[in-house]
Amino acid sequence: MYRTHTCGQLRLENKNEDVCLSGWVQRIRNLGAMTFIDLRDRYGITQLTIEESAPEDIKKQVALLGREFVIQVKGKVVERSSKNNKIPTGDIEILISELTILSQSEIPPFTIEDNTDGGDEIRMKYRYLDLRRTMVRKNLELRHKMAHLVRNYLDGQHFMEVETPVLIKSTPEGARDFIVPSRMNQGQFYALPQSPQTFKQLLMVAGFDRYYQIVKCFRDEDLRADRQPEFTQIDCEMSFVERDDVLNIFEGMIRHLFKELKGIDLPALPRMSWHDAMEHYGCDKPDIRFGMEFVDLSEVARNKDFSVFNTAEYIGAICASGCASYTRKQLDELTDFVKRPQIGAKGLVYVKYNEDGSLKSSVDKFYSEEDLKTWSAICGAKPGDLILILCGPKNKTLPQLCELRLEMGDRLGLRDKNVFKPLWVVDFPLLEWDEETQRFYAMHHPFTSPNTEDIELMESNPGAVRANAYDMVINGVEVGGGSIRIHNTELQQRMFRCLGFTPEQADKQFGFLLNAFKYGAPPHGGIAFGFDRLVSMFAGLDSIRDTIAFPKNNSGRDVMIDSPSEVSEEQFKELGIKLV
Ligand code: AMO
Repeated sequence: MYRTHTCGQLRLENKNEDVCLSGWVQRIRNLGAMTFIDLRDRYGITQLTIEESAPEDIKKQVALLGREFVIQVKGKVVERSSKNNKIPTGDIEILISELTILSQSEIPPFTIEDNTDGGDEIRMKYRYLDLRRTMVRKNLELRHKMAHLVRNYLDGQHFMEVETPVLIKSTPEGARDFIVPSRMNQGQFYALPQSPQTFKQLLMVAGFDRYYQIVKCFRDEDLRADRQPEFTQIDCEMSFVERDDVLNIFEGMIRHLFKELKGIDLPALPRMSWHDAMEHYGCDKPDIRFGMEFVDLSEVARNKDFSVFNTAEYIGAICASGCASYTRKQLDELTDFVKRPQIGAKGLVYVKYNEDGSLKSSVDKFYSEEDLKTWSAICGAKPGDLILILCGPKNKTLPQLCELRLEMGDRLGLRDKNVFKPLWVVDFPLLEWDEETQRFYAMHHPFTSPNTEDIELMESNPGAVRANAYDMVINGVEVGGGSIRIHNTELQQRMFRCLGFTPEQADKQFGFLLNAFKYGAPPHGGIAFGFDRLVSMFAGLDSIRDTIAFPKNNSGRDVMIDSPSEVSEEQFKELGIKLV
């Protein structure tokens, strides 16, 4: 038997018990008369004590130990004279009578403590050591707990977990596919699923009624803090439902998670149309932890000699409470911020509504105090506030103002990680026009149903058709998205036509789904949550990486196993792939 207890288990009640523990040496402190060892495992840390009077063979063994050695000890639980109230086992220590080295360790490349000296690269290379750190392990424990709660909730709602294949054919979610060559079908390729979208719809045709799966998805896209090339979805689909049925069930799931994991009773989730989200927040994933909504000054500000405004399609403002005292330096910083190439604004106009009621702006040359007063009134500004204005083509200015709003939210401490403001964004456009390729793309995916009242516009005004689609957004992060699906072959074919597919192309790529719809497809809809994003939100992390045991770095590499890597010529030959 390697242990009678774990390293997080013993308390004062165990005083005088003979115990056996196994774990890793976290730290050794040799104080001359006494030596202390912190022994660590997944459950905690227990202090071991070796007195000067301990048997010589134990002292010899202790002298050999180093950080991260794996040892087994036997001894008696005693009360500590100086207690450590920072750890649950801090009232006791083990006076050891036997010590066995189970495994030695080289000196680890970084310290395995919460505040490690290891940089990103080295920690990723030795991820198995990084995972020994409490804070990293805690994120994975949270992930496990969340998956468990999700399964329990969905099981209680009669959802059935079904596995779908990983070697499939392309599913269109808007990213590039990872492709896998087939040895048995040379010259042909599988694609890894960007999501199980078509399979879950087929499960509805099969009569499974309520499906879910916690499932890996693969997307070959540029990586960001909230994106990994392989990530996990809580993927769900339901039959005989309308939009509100889906929203209610999954609002329930999120509420369940917040209650169980954070003790928070969420109020009913507000719903915002995509149009309002764009107009008031400049993006489809608004962070509603704070206000500072956009105000459209296009009509009122175009009436003077300021040609920049006069020629702008859109003039938008935000009002930053209490910022009229911003210095020239702070305003210059903001101007530099919006002019960064990633944001791309040409400049920033400000109006200070001073505490004494006077108004001062960067465009005083062109506008009277009366004009500035009108703007302030429209913006709902009070003395002490600062109005920040951007202008230009509307589709460019809205996202720029969105970035500025978020920056001001950060500067003013309005984006508290312990405050959670989820909402549903609904009524997305069905289609999105792409200038480059001069064609429409499905904003969600091609199986999303148009709003019934907009179907007649599909050919005459495709850009105006709203989709029966929804996203769940928490604190500015899109944590989930889904839609009611098309369940009728004819409408699905019409949709493919809008997307520029010829009937042959549609049949080649999605014939299996169109065929299935010929055999009694129930009305259905669903949603998929980004599981990594949800965990990261609950853990208060800035990136989803630390919610994943073995993540990829920003270049899509696993530096620990050194992947992707080259394969042998022999393998290529077997696959029938010729290298050029
Ligand atoms: P969608 O493409 O919106 O919808 O994806 C659903 C959710 O998955 C998460 N997500 C990601 N997380 C980490 N890394 C990525 N690269 C990544 N890409 C997406 C997001 C997103 O909201 N089949 C549809 C769902 C449906 O219609 O039911 C789908 O996949 O949190």
